[in-house]
Amino acid sequence: AGAGLVDRFGRVARDLRVSLTEKCSLRCTYCMPAEGLPPIARSKLLTPDEIARLVRIGVGLGIEEVRFTGGEPLVRRDLVDVLRATRDAAPGIPLAMTTNGIGLDRVAEDLVEAGLTRVNVSLDSIDRAHFAELTRRDRLPDVLAGIAAAARAGLGPVKINAVLMPETLSGACDLLAWAVEHGCRLRFIEQMPLDADQRWTRETLVPAATLVDTLSQRFDLTEAGRDDPSSPAEDWLVDGGPATVGIIASVTRSFCGDCDRTRITAEGTVRSCLFSDAETDVRVLLRDGADDEEIAAAWQQAMWGKPFAHGLDAPEGERPSRELGRTETFAVSAR
Ligand code: GTP
Ligand code: 5AD
Ligand code: SF4
Repeated sequence: AGAGLVDRFGRVARDLRVSLTEKCSLRCTYCMPAEGLPPIARSKLLTPDEIARLVRIGVGLGIEEVRFTGGEPLVRRDLVDVLRATRDAAPGIPLAMTTNGIGLDRVAEDLVEAGLTRVNVSLDSIDRAHFAELTRRDRLPDVLAGIAAAARAGLGPVKINAVLMPETLSGACDLLAWAVEHGCRLRFIEQMPLDADQRWTRETLVPAATLVDTLSQRFDLTEAGRDDPSSPAEDWLVDGGPATVGIIASVTRSFCGDCDRTRITAEGTVRSCLFSDAETDVRVLLRDGADDEEIAAAWQQAMWGKPFAHGLDAPEGERPSRELGRTETFAVSAR
């Protein structure tokens, strides 16, 4: 086997996303069914030491950054242990987290002390009633407290993720004004078909171009390009800068060709792509006493099979299918 995590199309994975749980304190309609995802048996969840070992093996394969996702990472009671073990196993590797922010006010400092370097917080609306409708929980004040605590703990500038929906469009200007005022880097994301209820349709998709029109009614936007080629967000300067707003056009301008991601699910399988159904079970290898080389080889083999693209930008493309509850949940992922 060669050195790194390479696929048939020549892409190299350097960014590792580790899902820590399928559980979540919210029930965003584009992500989870009202009752939540099917629970993962406790015995199947990777332990902090298992996660740390996989990250160390990943670093040997070229991983340069790790992002913890869910479900919601903050619902794991041993999150501090996960971070500490990972930091000790992979010193110097940036450790980021994508979170809904609920409970972050209580643990932000502990997380930083344990090794966390960056957070992205999901927030689709700055209007309380609207937030409660989208997430099925009246928790906006908790999220805002979490964002403030993250900034105080040195995790700023906090990035904010807002999934674009017809309902978010009406509040998009207010959300951007709030983000600029609070020193957050807001990014809007085109909705992808990852919702459990399968309500996503091309017809109701709000494309990036529509958002730009809406924001332009209140702000002066100038295109500023991408941070780096593998970054999903294209940035725009707001009113001449320095504030920016990012747009992640996952559907209308997909970035699969530059994808540098690899994923590990909460129950210890490697997924080569957010939309891939193929999973390679490394938990079994870990628990059967496999050595690092065997695990690395299984990971490389999984990545070799990474699909070329999700194909959502093809107008006649079908909705990719994926079995529920087995992946990075952004719900079911991402996350
Ligand atoms: P940064 O390093 O801060 O840029 O993080 P990120 O944007 O990579 O991660 P985050 O968890 O904040 O994800 C933001 C959005 O990127 C998600 O909501 C998805 O829409 C999109 N995204 C993340 N991973 C993938 C992926 O593998 N494929 C696609 N198509 N979109 C993804
Ligand atoms: N499409 C796009 N982004 C999504 N997220 C959750 N579900 C979807 C979806 N269907 C976002 C969350 C979080 C990030 C990890 O993914 O809001 O910010
Ligand atoms: Fe939870 Fe994130 Fe899904 Fe919202 S998008 S329900 S915060 S996992």
